[in-house]
Amino acid sequence: MAQTRGQFSSKIGFLLAAAGSAVGLGNIWGFPTQAASNGGGAFLLVYLVLAFVLAYPALMAELTIGRYARANVITALESLSEKPGLRRAGWLSGSAAVAVAIFILSFYAIVAGWMLSEFLSPLAAQLGAGATESWLDSAGFARNALVCAIMSGLTIAIIARGVEKGIEAWSTRLMPLLFAILLGLIIYVLTQAGAGRGLAAYLIPTPSQLLDPQLILSALGQAFFSLSLGVGTMLIYGSYLRDTDNLPRMGVSVTLLDTGFAFTAGLLILPAIYVADARGIAVFNDTGGLIAGPDLIFQVLPALFDTMGSAGAWVAIAFFALMSIAALTSAISLLEVPVSVCVERWKISRPRAACLSGGAIFAISLLIIWQFEALFNTVITVTTVYGQPLLGVALCVFAGWVMQRNQLLNELSKGHPEIEKTVFWKIWPFYVRFICPALILLTFVQSLR
Ligand code: TRP
Repeated sequence: MAQTRGQFSSKIGFLLAAAGSAVGLGNIWGFPTQAASNGGGAFLLVYLVLAFVLAYPALMAELTIGRYARANVITALESLSEKPGLRRAGWLSGSAAVAVAIFILSFYAIVAGWMLSEFLSPLAAQLGAGATESWLDSAGFARNALVCAIMSGLTIAIIARGVEKGIEAWSTRLMPLLFAILLGLIIYVLTQAGAGRGLAAYLIPTPSQLLDPQLILSALGQAFFSLSLGVGTMLIYGSYLRDTDNLPRMGVSVTLLDTGFAFTAGLLILPAIYVADARGIAVFNDTGGLIAGPDLIFQVLPALFDTMGSAGAWVAIAFFALMSIAALTSAISLLEVPVSVCVERWKISRPRAACLSGGAIFAISLLIIWQFEALFNTVITVTTVYGQPLLGVALCVFAGWVMQRNQLLNELSKGHPEIEKTVFWKIWPFYVRFICPALILLTFVQSLR
């Protein structure tokens, strides 16, 4: 099977694909708004520490298991041991990971669809298609279903093309574009009145908040979501890495790209909020906190773009193009989780597997759109608050306890013969065995109180 499996053709291809998975709505929307409502610079600092101290070791667990087993998450976890009990545990955890990936994608595709409609609507206005514009702004079932269908269709089309021609090729095209749009928008927003106050709110920490448990909890959840951990996306991407690639360094680069992007996105969103404030748009809620979440993206920012005159429409188009692209490169990594299972375990051809899994997930999305009040937030909570941390612990346990020390060492030395002498090797095996599971569980238990 080794020859027929896809592989990333270059380091940069893998990096852009993994960064494409990691950089998504979580970075451009989640991170800046969480930072804004949790003490600005304090959140940023805690987030950076947790990303490297906890999320990076967990990311390494996934990449290492993936490349060692060279298989989808279920087969990979099953194959780590000969013992029937452990194989069963591997099967169960792997299946749970696939289920969580499926449900994360089902809500992610809905939000991605909203981004697309916010992108298409000012575009329609520019083209003089007024009726289309108001339909796109209508937010009804039909609109939400259609834009979600388009995003799901694009995701399926890319995944159907495989690792190199689909995931790698499209990530390589879209990620630089994403960065260029982000930089362009930052430069524009920073020249507007009020931006300086936003920068200050973002970059200057409130020291008293540094040890606030709620802040630490939000930062950890944010780091895990942002690095796409716990559901096997990074595991499957790791399984497409070449043996000659240096895993610890790849992991560091992905973590740096992800946190770097989140940080840079903060330089856009926070100043934009204060520019909106300077223009008289309501940006604080009744309790004095910043408006965050959907209201920020779909009300505050569009209201801000409206005040920018003729440039505003183009700024809006660029901003929501940015969001749509970021969402797309993340969505493909989620779809790859079930698709790789279908291809490798059930021998279904990749295009068929992509259509079947993607179609089934779209059906779930439709159900959520239809029963929105009852389902949307529940699905998000169950998958990201419960599913991801628990599976994250499971993956660390598999890497730390089920894989043998020499298996780990062998795998890690492949692209890095001197690994035994590095600080990484002196610390990491201990870390995935004890520190990561314990700290993740601790924060998880905290969050339930
Ligand atoms: N990390 C992406 C973001 O920040 C979303 C994402 C992609 C994800 N794959 C994932 C989240 C797997 C959790 C698990 O938007």
